[in-house]
Amino acid sequence: MDQYVVFGNPIGHSKSPLIHRLFAEQTGQQLEYATLLAPLDDFAGTARRFFAHGRGANVTVPFKEEAYRLCDSLTRRAQRAGAVNTLCKQADGSLLGDNTDGAGLVRDLRVNAGVGLKGKRILLLGAGGAVRGALEPLLAEQPASVVIANRTVEKAEQLAAAFADLGPVSASGYDWLEESVDLIINATSASLSGELPAISASLVEPGRTVCYDMMYGKEPTTFCRWASAQGAAQVLDGLGMLAEQAAEAFFLWRGVRPDSAPVLAELRRQLAL
Ligand SMILES: NC(=O)c1ccc[n+]([C@@H]2O[C@H](COP(=O)([O-])OP(=O)(O)OC[C@H]3O[C@@H](n4cnc5c(N)ncnc54)[C@H](OP(=O)(O)O)[C@@H]3O)[C@@H](O)[C@H]2O)c1
Repeated sequence: MDQYVVFGNPIGHSKSPLIHRLFAEQTGQQLEYATLLAPLDDFAGTARRFFAHGRGANVTVPFKEEAYRLCDSLTRRAQRAGAVNTLCKQADGSLLGDNTDGAGLVRDLRVNAGVGLKGKRILLLGAGGAVRGALEPLLAEQPASVVIANRTVEKAEQLAAAFADLGPVSASGYDWLEESVDLIINATSASLSGELPAISASLVEPGRTVCYDMMYGKEPTTFCRWASAQGAAQVLDGLGMLAEQAAEAFFLWRGVRPDSAPVLAELRRQLAL
């Protein structure tokens, strides 16, 4: 049977095996998908040994940049992201790298939440790997503007410069921003420690601004609670992004696009337990 894994360290709590098992059942695809704990100092060796027989893999923290360097070829979005979350062995044995995180985010916003992005003013909070992966797919939607705001402003400036050829993208510090926007995406890991990026409440226009936290959890994240308190039109978390980036990877591997809605519902149900 075709073998797939998700590489990470740690990897024990990954939801990817459940997601891909459900996708495979739904589409009638014959495959096995497991977690693979790679040692911090030997991702490349672990990946090479796996791909002696394996067909494809997902890659999570902290190996996405190493995976990028391991590939023989890259999709355009992986090239721009500088990171790979999906590996696919090609017919000639070479390794193709893709980054489906940003596409998953865009699909979750557009299809699952019905949030159009064309002509919108978007504020991205954070300037780490998740923002780097999101920029190309977001700019492809032709927003009016994308502002990257980060605690360390230089990182936001570097990213804005690196993606300026793809659309209207600029950098900012948190305390420079006052005017409301259409969409705020929190791509910081601040919610992990129960913190909030230091942004003004005036960025949310009650009843109109949509707020999205890439993080998710059993309870609403700190950012989602803040957004609700400001009267945001929609408050969304990153569970849909997780399901959609997996659906994109599954499509790359198998050529079949699974229906993510029932899988997302199952993830939501299990998260609430
Ligand atoms: N749902 C999904 O499928 C999905 C996929 C990918 C990522 N994510 C989530 O997205 C988040 C970011 O991931 P990443 O890979 O981009 O992480 P990363 O590369 O480590 O970047 C972290 C970012 O968070 C900022 N930050 C951390 N603590 C902060 C605080 N207390 N206040 C303000 N800013 C803070 C950092 O700012 P500095 O540069 O100033 O340090 C940096 O911009 C994580 O929560 C991750 O779980 C979700």
